[in-house]
Amino acid sequence: MADYERILITGAAGSLGAQLREGLADFAPRLRHADRADMGVAAANEELVVCDLADRQAAFACIDGCDAIVHFAGNPREHPFDELLRDGLPAAYNIWEGARRHGVKRIVHASSIHAVGFCEVEEVPDTRVPHRPDTFYGLGKCFVEDLAALYWDKWGLETVCLRIGSCSPEPADRRMLWSWLSAADLVRLTEAALTAPRVGFSVIYGTSDNAQAAVSNAFATHIGFVPRDSADGHAPAVLELTPRPDPHARATRVIGGGFAAAGHPDDDRR
Ligand SMILES: NC(=O)c1ccc[n+]([C@@H]2O[C@H](COP(=O)([O-])OP(=O)(O)OC[C@H]3O[C@@H](n4cnc5c(N)ncnc54)[C@H](O)[C@@H]3O)[C@@H](O)[C@H]2O)c1
Repeated sequence: MADYERILITGAAGSLGAQLREGLADFAPRLRHADRADMGVAAANEELVVCDLADRQAAFACIDGCDAIVHFAGNPREHPFDELLRDGLPAAYNIWEGARRHGVKRIVHASSIHAVGFCEVEEVPDTRVPHRPDTFYGLGKCFVEDLAALYWDKWGLETVCLRIGSCSPEPADRRMLWSWLSAADLVRLTEAALTAPRVGFSVIYGTSDNAQAAVSNAFATHIGFVPRDSADGHAPAVLELTPRPDPHARATRVIGGGFAAAGHPDDDRR
């Protein structure tokens, strides 16, 4: 028996949303996909809604009739604070508040390692370390994680925040030997987050079964995520093609890597 009748997947035109659209195609009887970009043609059990989730009425209408939300809409890169205020934060509020009003049972959210990006690699932070954002992008993820905690503590709406590492076809650099998450493991992680019997407000890191691990899921075992892919087989090629990093450089020292080393986004635009 399906746990949910209709799941809303946001950001379905994006790179990770498209993976989830394919991987979760049979997960629920109905799937509603939302994005402000074109999503192509709907399959028989799909509904496609083109809308801006920062628009409250559009977001609420999109959520109406859904009993779970997989929220992956969002700009995955560093961006100016003003964009966060205009787009990412309002969209997040609309999702959680729309979910509360429409009786959604659970939200699975694409958070990021950049919410704790200034933790040092050898600290191997678990999911209980305080937020240490490395960018305005990471700061936005911290806000959304706290928003989700509020909606659980006050209104009993469950959320799992997936602090995704690097979800790409293959690990492309030495940092990705620990941070890589395969597309298939992203689908497994999302399924586990949707089906675990009780999650309350939970945080889990999204990385594959990599021998190097710079984050710890010791306090997220209740979600039951078992990654099956690994960056390890790619290590010889990555080591061959990339230089030995400076261990004192910020991008090597902290888990946020290049995001932590990047400057202020407004300076880059001046
Ligand atoms: N790619 C990664 O490795 C990675 C790692 C950590 C976290 N994440 C998170 O996963 C999510 C998806 O990342 P991605 O790499 O697929 O990004 P992407 O840019 O490929 O896709 C994001 C999609 O969200 C849509 N979108 C953005 N704002 C919207 C709004 N207000 N209303 C409607 N649609 C909107 C965009 O049109 C786009 O199609 C993001 O939240 C990102 O921060 C990704």
